[in-house]
Amino acid sequence: MFLELASLVKCILYTWNRFLLTPAVGCVLLLLWRIWRFTVLPVLRPNEPKELPYWIPVFGHTIAFFGNSDKLLERGLNYTGRTHEVFAIQVFRKKLYIITNPSDVSNAFRDNEALHFDGHLNELLCNWGFEGEALRLAWHVPQPGEWCYLPGNPLNPNHLSLNRFTEEVYREQLLPGPKMDAMYNAFATALFATLEWSNLDFCTVGVRGKSRLLSLSMLCRHTMVDATTRSMFGSHLHRINPTVVENMMNFNDHAWMVFFRYPEIFGSPVTEPRRQLMDTLKTFINLPAHARTEQAWSIDTILKWQEIMGVDLHSRASIILMIYWAANSNEYNISFWVLAHLLHSPDLFRTVYEETEAAWPHGKLDIKWLCTNAPNLDAIFSEALRLNGGAMVSRVVRSPITLGGKVLQPGHSALIPARQLHMNEKVWGDNVAEFDATRFKNKKSLTRHSSYRPFGGGVTYCPGRVLAKEEVFSFLAILFHRFDIKLAVVGAEKQKFPKLDDSTPALGITGPVRSMDVIIETTLKNKFY
Ligand code: HEM
Ligand SMILES: *[C@@H]1O[C@H](CO)[C@@H](O)[C@H](O)[C@H]1NC(C)=O
Ligand SMILES: *[C@@H]1O[C@H](CO)[C@@H](O)[C@H](O)[C@H]1NC(C)=O
Repeated sequence: MFLELASLVKCILYTWNRFLLTPAVGCVLLLLWRIWRFTVLPVLRPNEPKELPYWIPVFGHTIAFFGNSDKLLERGLNYTGRTHEVFAIQVFRKKLYIITNPSDVSNAFRDNEALHFDGHLNELLCNWGFEGEALRLAWHVPQPGEWCYLPGNPLNPNHLSLNRFTEEVYREQLLPGPKMDAMYNAFATALFATLEWSNLDFCTVGVRGKSRLLSLSMLCRHTMVDATTRSMFGSHLHRINPTVVENMMNFNDHAWMVFFRYPEIFGSPVTEPRRQLMDTLKTFINLPAHARTEQAWSIDTILKWQEIMGVDLHSRASIILMIYWAANSNEYNISFWVLAHLLHSPDLFRTVYEETEAAWPHGKLDIKWLCTNAPNLDAIFSEALRLNGGAMVSRVVRSPITLGGKVLQPGHSALIPARQLHMNEKVWGDNVAEFDATRFKNKKSLTRHSSYRPFGGGVTYCPGRVLAKEEVFSFLAILFHRFDIKLAVVGAEKQKFPKLDDSTPALGITGPVRSMDVIIETTLKNKFY
């Protein structure tokens, strides 16, 4: 990206010298270009999505996008009179169509031919470290007679390409069924172990008599990443690298740099945690099969097929890291927000506490029961996903497609930003920006509204969505069952409700601004003394 920038600058300087452009002439030309591009062209081509104007050709909105994508998209909505028609922004050479109208969104998710995921996946794979030969192998469909065409092999009976195979495998692992339950059980076992009173030092920031003061953010981050790691890899990664959980938390904070291939030349903060995770995964992959007995079925199966295809170690580890990241990235942020809302409103807390406590018949947590019999918690979970869900789903336009009267041209990308769907005042009403604990309880069908997309949609609709709910609900249920918790009194005023961190491009559930934690006062319940 920066090489291209350098050649662009060179080219401009060359033109400048060649034609003896004075700054004044340059400014006039730029102004003419801008008027042509953003005032005249839109009139000549009313069916093309309007472009949000910019001053620097090619570079466009790049800086604004990485600085605060949410604000940039809001500016685009304002520019188009908040009609929610498709509009376009320019992010370094690439035109991105922004789709925010509910019916455009459904049409976009439905048309997998015109708006294709593979082009985007290819780009993602490159950004994550898949290269050259491995990339070719990953798309290769086994043909009769080839080394990878194994008739009657139970592993890949439909002879899918490695990429398709991987997707099929994690769907089977994550969607409801015995494999999902196995993963949930491993996750819950880890939760029970972490959430022991004597184990809470990792998030304790102070002690008051019999109580501990806990950092909510640290509690959620560590507990959820640890449990996810164990649900996928058993104790193997922990044994190879005792700091694997911290590495994943640090990686997570900057993972957007990997997604957008942010140049690493500036000593990027993602480099070190990424290297450590890659090393850990490479060591893990190289273990003999009998030393990887605790791994989940999907990890085992994907690694086996990668080996048959002959993919190199670095690329194998990159894919596993991508899946490992997807399983981790949202869980602790959504747990944080649900808990923050409950702690800040004691009445809500009591209602939800009664729901979770009812899920412990004979002292054993019945998670399936809780997930279908807690209408208040359910509504709060959905509302927290709405307010904090910032996923931006990408597709590549392969053939022209008309959305709301605007024609999207092939070669460009389309972006469906959950945040703008969830903040559409026409859908959600005047209190769109407020947390309304009963919004989804009063109108259950809202979870199926096409302007509600915390888990994305279409071919990449999150396969982990059911598991995610079980995991978050069990975290709360165990926490409430074992401890008395409440918002701590720190200083003279009530703690402020944390703000959403909108300073980096969002990839899923956005977290809180770093300096705004929630401190909770926690005591062990009497029955456990
Ligand atoms: C509240 C929690 C979660 C949220 C909000 C969430 C959100 C999302 C979103 C928005 C996507 C689509 C991304 C895209 O289209 O570019 C996605 C995909 C995915 N999610 Fe989740 N997710 C959650 C939990 C999980 C969990 C717990 C797992 C696994 C254990 C998981 C595994 C995946 C995978 C593997 C994909 C890729 C699907 C594909 O490309 O076909 N997710 N998730
Ligand atoms: C969009 O317009 C509203 C109302 O005029 C204004 O309050 C808001 O600041 C604008 N947003 C941006 C990002 O320009
Ligand atoms: C979760 O929140 C943290 C900040 O607390 C942020 O760095 C991270 O990117 C968030 N996760 C996602 C998926 O956006």
